[in-house]
Amino acid sequence: MLIEDQSANSATKSTSSFSSLPDAPVDEIFSLNHAYATDPNPNKVNLSLGVYRTEEGQPWPLSSVEQVEQELHSQNNPARHEYLPIEGDREFLDHARDLMFGFNKNDTDVEKEAKAKKRIASVQSISGTGANHLGAAFLAHHLKPKHVWVSIPTWANHHTIWELQGIERKGYPYFDASTCAFNFEGAITTLENEAEEGDVILLHACAHNPTGVDPSKEQWKKIAELCQRKRLFPFFDSAYQGFASGSADEDAWAVRYFFNLSPPLEMCVAQSFSKNFGLYGHRTGAFHLVTNGSKPAETELVRKNLCHIIRGEYSMGPRYGSTIVKRVLGDSALRAQWQKDLTAMSSRIKRMRQALYDELVRLNTPGSWEHIINQNGMFSYTGLTLKQVLTLRNEFHIYLLKSGRASVSGFSEKNVAYVAQAIDNVVRRDV
Ligand SMILES: Cc1ncc(COP(=O)(O)O)c(C=O)c1O
Repeated sequence: MLIEDQSANSATKSTSSFSSLPDAPVDEIFSLNHAYATDPNPNKVNLSLGVYRTEEGQPWPLSSVEQVEQELHSQNNPARHEYLPIEGDREFLDHARDLMFGFNKNDTDVEKEAKAKKRIASVQSISGTGANHLGAAFLAHHLKPKHVWVSIPTWANHHTIWELQGIERKGYPYFDASTCAFNFEGAITTLENEAEEGDVILLHACAHNPTGVDPSKEQWKKIAELCQRKRLFPFFDSAYQGFASGSADEDAWAVRYFFNLSPPLEMCVAQSFSKNFGLYGHRTGAFHLVTNGSKPAETELVRKNLCHIIRGEYSMGPRYGSTIVKRVLGDSALRAQWQKDLTAMSSRIKRMRQALYDELVRLNTPGSWEHIINQNGMFSYTGLTLKQVLTLRNEFHIYLLKSGRASVSGFSEKNVAYVAQAIDNVVRRDV
């Protein structure tokens, strides 16, 4: 059609193409964060966003990360803004894979490990969200699962990511509100009776978001056995490795157990470096798809297909964060410093859990609060009701999610007594 014809046509066209779009949901966490930022009350407390904060409520660039930043700055490398390859930075990917799957330890059987590494196709992603997305896009195209099973509840973005791929989402029970613990029986029974061969099972590698409740090692073994027997496809989301317990090995236990099963399982892992390196805005992550190793050429085929999606969507991952991570993980002194950084973050969070618990016990707040110290990682599922959460927000300027999820790193020695007193107040109104 001629250009003149097109403009004549559009001049007579009066209806808009987008007027009947459905309304899109607002992200609860980011809108709460905005409400907090614009609240003038001096006592306000932000327990909404999943980011690490210091005692002073400030962001904390890790010492190991800062050392590398200074080094990079002084090097003044002219290639520092160049494109990465489509798959990402290979050296970074090798370190990311080794950290996740536990390779290159002192007691390694080199030949066995080389074979194991060949099962894994790794590519760089736009942090953990991008790794989840890449995995969902790849599996929707090439595995074509009937369903993806997510825990009830789960990180809200899991729903969005899989909804956008057009895969039907189903839920398996996860949180037992009466005990504030993992509902193992509910989860295993639902998956046993209802999941179908080829379905994807989304699992949080550690520090489950939002509940802070993880399966025990014995329970993980039973979940793995179920996946193997029913030929379900495990999809691990690992956003808190090392951040949860302070040990990267401990936090990867479940992933490594599934990976080392015999006969080998096909599975995948979305790996984020947002929390454990504090690189939130630098969108640093990796996606690993694990083949069963029966056909050696398959890993390369998977990698090429992942690169095909990457090229069409964002061409390649960002350079800055992955450069930092590879430098820290590849240098023994920096890695030792990183370990200290992880310990500093995870132990402050544990101290804050204990402090909140102690205050609630001291106040004799009605109910049981042990779950606050038993839960793991960045979040606590407090057990507070929607009404109580809204009262905390409106009367006390304390911001947590409607589900009662609190980001523990928002607590400090200065605000914990205030928050505990407010919780005590709202709970007593309902007794
Ligand atoms: C369970 C879970 N998965 C993935 C992510 C992804 O985070 P990012 O995209 O910042 O790496 C998060 C972040 O909060 C999370 O909690």
